[in-house]
Amino acid sequence: MAQGTFHIITFGCQMNVNDSFWLTRSLQRRGFVESPLEQAEIVILNTCSVRDKPEQKVYAALGRIKYETRRVPGSFAVVAGCVAQQIGAGFFERFPQVRLVVGGDGLAMAPDTIERLHADPKLRLNLTDFSEVYPERDPALPEHGESPIPPVAYVNIMQGCDNFCTYCIVPFTRGRQKSRQADAILDECRALIDSGAKEITLLGQNVNAYGLDKHATGDVSFGQLLRRAAELPGLERLRFVTPHPKDLSADVIAMFGELPNLCPRLHLPLQAGSDRVLARMNRKYDMARYRELVEGLRAARPDIALSTDLIVGFPGETEEDFQETLAAVRDVGFMSSFSFCYSDRPGTAASRPTDKGEPAEKLPRLERLQALQEELSAAWLHGRVGCKTEVLLEGTSRKQDGDAENESWQGRDPWGDAVNVSLPSGTGAPGLILPVTIVTAKKHSLVGEVRH
Ligand code: SAH
Ligand code: SF4
Ligand code: F3S
Repeated sequence: MAQGTFHIITFGCQMNVNDSFWLTRSLQRRGFVESPLEQAEIVILNTCSVRDKPEQKVYAALGRIKYETRRVPGSFAVVAGCVAQQIGAGFFERFPQVRLVVGGDGLAMAPDTIERLHADPKLRLNLTDFSEVYPERDPALPEHGESPIPPVAYVNIMQGCDNFCTYCIVPFTRGRQKSRQADAILDECRALIDSGAKEITLLGQNVNAYGLDKHATGDVSFGQLLRRAAELPGLERLRFVTPHPKDLSADVIAMFGELPNLCPRLHLPLQAGSDRVLARMNRKYDMARYRELVEGLRAARPDIALSTDLIVGFPGETEEDFQETLAAVRDVGFMSSFSFCYSDRPGTAASRPTDKGEPAEKLPRLERLQALQEELSAAWLHGRVGCKTEVLLEGTSRKQDGDAENESWQGRDPWGDAVNVSLPSGTGAPGLILPVTIVTAKKHSLVGEVRH
């Protein structure tokens, strides 16, 4: 039964991307139909508040949506995610087209609520309370005949964060850490594998602190969960994101050498290379500890590749502090990094002092850091030429080879690099894992040739 049309716009991290993916399936299960923005009765914004810019994008998008959907009778907007949690009912005053505001914990109830709102045009609801335990969601897996699960899937294992890094809004927008029951996680992994997933990434804002919160998780540690996930029959590749260096235990480090399907790639946010700045960020590790972790990871898995997150221009950062960040990035040799200028976020400890001494040079420093990263990333990609590896196919690339006999497929190797391969038409399929030799390095990707 057709219920109505919807369109989701997603900002932010992988958790938001995964939440939107689940919401799409759950609404489809209820008979709602995905449609282009201009035709949607229900426009859902899944928002991010980690810096000021993504927050501002939400307000701009709401204005644009009002214009785009002006010919759709009864259309309304839903604001979900971290800006929803931050602003709450404030959205109703500023944007009358918003009829539902829903935070991370409330999302599990969003499909039922959207159904009610669609049926009752006078209703407006605010679902921004935090819950005590991880809010389980309906599984919303596709049934026979529906579009299948992509071969690369993501599974939430916790929600929220207890770390309170002094710059970060996430503990306020996602709430306290709540680990999910291990059985529910493994059941979801099994169901995804049965539906065609070959690779699973375990997700959480502080993923390796899994089980450390006081809420019952059946006494399963992150290491134990990782091992149990790795042993699931049919799972070819396992990853997790985002870990915190302070919670990276020796047993998890050792697993990179022990679990054959745990991929040799780790995104391990560093944030800054100066001990003074790290302490003021409340990161709870210093450079000596971070370097020790890197050595441990390389001892367990010599070919492991590391990527990271960095903040430039944290209040009080001196040129000397910044040079230590450059040195750390060069020494560790990150294959890639996400770096941003410090952005003041409401409610955080770092935003409180009025004269914080934010360095005027933050933009030029960011450019210097990104130039160094480009060099390192190019060296990494060029170093891959000639390597024999395996590519998990995800889909065909829009840009075709130009010859009808071949199709250009895109996939990833175990290090997470995007690899393009040309295959005879009709021989590729999403989820297929092919042995390839890397033949060319492009700016942000690789080209491989299939080995026969
Ligand atoms: N939980 C993860 C990621 C959190 S948010 C972690 O601990 O690393 C993703 C990234 O956004 C962070 O790693 C950080 O580099 C960046 N970030 C968070 N708050 C920021 C702020 N106020 N200004 C600039 N960058 C920020
Ligand atoms: Fe934010 Fe720090 Fe928590 Fe990451 S660990 S989400 S940076 S408070
Ligand atoms: Fe953004 Fe919230 Fe994720 S602030 S980074 S969407 S946890």
